[in-house]
Amino acid sequence: MIDYQAILNTINSQAATSSDRGDVASYIPELSKIDKNKFGIHLINAEKLEFSSGDFQEVFSIQSISKVLSLSLAFSLIGDELWSRVDVEPSGDPFNHLSLLELENGIPRNPLINAGAIVVADVLLSNLKNPKEDFLNYVRKITNDTSINFDLTITDSEKKTGFRNIAAANLLKSYNNLQNDVDTVLDFYFHQCAIQMNCQQLTKAFFMFMNGGKCMQEQTYLTTSQIKRINALMLTCGFYDEAGEFAFEVGLPGKSGVGGGIVALLPNKFCVATWSPGLNKKGNSKLGMEALEKLTTATGQSIF
Ligand code: DON
Repeated sequence: MIDYQAILNTINSQAATSSDRGDVASYIPELSKIDKNKFGIHLINAEKLEFSSGDFQEVFSIQSISKVLSLSLAFSLIGDELWSRVDVEPSGDPFNHLSLLELENGIPRNPLINAGAIVVADVLLSNLKNPKEDFLNYVRKITNDTSINFDLTITDSEKKTGFRNIAAANLLKSYNNLQNDVDTVLDFYFHQCAIQMNCQQLTKAFFMFMNGGKCMQEQTYLTTSQIKRINALMLTCGFYDEAGEFAFEVGLPGKSGVGGGIVALLPNKFCVATWSPGLNKKGNSKLGMEALEKLTTATGQSIF
């Protein structure tokens, strides 16, 4: 039996002594106020046993982690039709780059870079009655937690400085790859990124990707094949131009956000979330990545 609790405790105490914690994201002004000394980790295994250490119950802005959740809802609603609007190839580019979008005629490389997630947001707007409310309810349902909410201060903060996303949405619109108007799509996208959750809630939200599609409440929204595809996208695209490094060091499908969160999972074994607000140069949590490398090394568990 692997002693997850002992491993998480060691990871947490090592994180506490780390002097190089990376830099907190500042292009969304509200995020720059977060204390970079925070560190939390939570793991849930396939038997629903939970292990945790540090600030695992403190909520933070999930940011790009929400892209996997919006993708899963859009995929469950329109199926493979989605892939005519967004591709499934890693970009090798930072999350907010636009150059490939123009070269490839308005079809984003994948749904986990900003441009791809903006297309997914457009799909949700066209297919949900009350998009923001319905999306939030979906997240609450799969997590089995009604306390999850948007942090509207973060939404407003990003709206004021989201110039690259505004550019991306306009470029997508010029290629007819948005059905709704640019402002409505961006408003939805900025809300979804501003969902706040803690590490414990995140592992529960992602439980279904670890558990062949069955969520915490035993409900199924996606087929096993759709879950396989989403996990493949997390592995190849979840960390942008650091996806190779994450696979190399950690060896799990996962997703990061500029709020400092990372969720990763080993199918049929466990789902783990870390939070440390300081980011490395590629925009992924510095200590989060190091913690997950230690976890897969100490347990000997990864997909490889
Ligand atoms: O659109 C943005 O730039 C942010 N709302 C999300 C970016 C993000 O989290 C990138 N992740 N590492």
